[in-house]
Amino acid sequence: MRVLVLNGPNLNLLGTREPEVYGRTTLSDLEAKISRWAEQLGVVVTFQQFNQEGDIVTAIQEASGLDGIVINPGALTHTSRSIGDAIRSVGVPAVEVHISNVKAREPWRAVSLVSESAVRTIYGRGFSGYRDALRHLANRAATPYETIRYGSHPDNVADLRPASNGAGGLVILVHGGFWLREWERDTMESLAVDLAGRGFTTLNVEYRRLGAGGGWPGSGHDVSTALNLVSHHSELSSMSTALIGHSAGGYLALWAAGPPRNRSVELTVGLAAVTDLELLADTDGAGSASALQLLDRGAPPQVDAAASRTVLVHGQDDDLVAVTHSARLGGNGDVELVAGLGHFEMLDPTREHWPPVIEALHSMLS
Ligand code: DQA
Repeated sequence: MRVLVLNGPNLNLLGTREPEVYGRTTLSDLEAKISRWAEQLGVVVTFQQFNQEGDIVTAIQEASGLDGIVINPGALTHTSRSIGDAIRSVGVPAVEVHISNVKAREPWRAVSLVSESAVRTIYGRGFSGYRDALRHLANRAATPYETIRYGSHPDNVADLRPASNGAGGLVILVHGGFWLREWERDTMESLAVDLAGRGFTTLNVEYRRLGAGGGWPGSGHDVSTALNLVSHHSELSSMSTALIGHSAGGYLALWAAGPPRNRSVELTVGLAAVTDLELLADTDGAGSASALQLLDRGAPPQVDAAASRTVLVHGQDDDLVAVTHSARLGGNGDVELVAGLGHFEMLDPTREHWPPVIEALHSMLS
C-alpha cells in the first residue's frame, strides 16, 4: 500500500516552532519515525511539505493513484475549502492529523474545514497520531466494515466487521484513552482486523467521552446501550458474545458486563483494564484528572469481575495503568501479567499476550 504523508504550512519549522506545543522533534526526525512505523505496517510512504495552499492542492491531485493520504494541513485546516475539495476530487482515503489537541486550544482551531472530506481526524496524540493514521489506512484497506448507529449523539456509532470465514461468535471492542475525546475506536482496529481473519465478527464501539456528554454516566450509558442494541439486532443477537475493553474501556466493559447487568456476555476480557478509579486518581499521570471527574460524577470507584468468565491481561511494563488494576481481581478472574509489554502493546495482535486471549475466545464462543 502506498501513502503520501503531506504536511502544510509551518510544519517545516517543527523542532524550533513553539516547542511547548509541538515539541523539539524536527520534521526530518518525524519523517524518519514515520518511515519506521510505515515499514512495520507494510506501507510505502512518500513525504511532502508545502507552505502554500496551491502546492498542497496540486500534491493531493498528483496522489490520485495512491492508496491513502495522511495530511496535516497546519493552519489551512481552519480556512481552506480547496484542500477538502481536492481530497474529495481524487477520492483517495485521507486521514487528517494534528499533533496538538486542536479541540483544547483557541476556539478557532477546533473548527476544521477539511474533516468532512477526511475518512478520520486524529488530533492531540502528539507525533504518534501519524502512526495511528497509517495504521487506520492499513486496517480499513484490510477488512471492509459498516458503521452502524446506536443512539443520536455523533459518537453513538460502532463499526461492524463481518468475519471473513464462518461464524466464530461476536466480539465487542471498547477502546480506552481515559475518557478523553482525542482517543477513539481506531486504536482497536488492529485487533478487530485480526479477529475478523480468525472467524470472529467484531463490533468496535465508539462512545461519548469527557467534554462531549461522556465521562460518567454518559460513557457507561453508551456502552451498555450498544450492548442492548446487539441483543436486539437481527443478525447479532443469536451470536455468542465476548467483550474486550482496553484501559478505560476495560472499566466500561467490566461495568457493562458486570452483575446485575449481565447481558448474556460469555466472556469479558480486560486488556490493561482500569478497575479502580481511586487508585487511578492517586496515580501521577494522564488518567488521574479523568478518574477524579468520573468519581465526582458518581462513577463506581471499583469495578469487579464481570458476570461472565473474566480474563485480565496486563503488561508488566505498563506505566499508564498499574498492574494492580488487574491483579486485584485475581480471586475472581484469570489474570495474566505479561513480562516485557507496556500499555499500548496490548493493542497489537502480533504480541505474545494475544494468543491466550484468542484461546479463551475460541473456548467460550464456539
Ligand atoms: C496543527 C494545529 C493547527 O491549528 C496549527 O495551525 C498547525 C499545526 C497541529 O499539528 O497540531 O500548524 O495542525
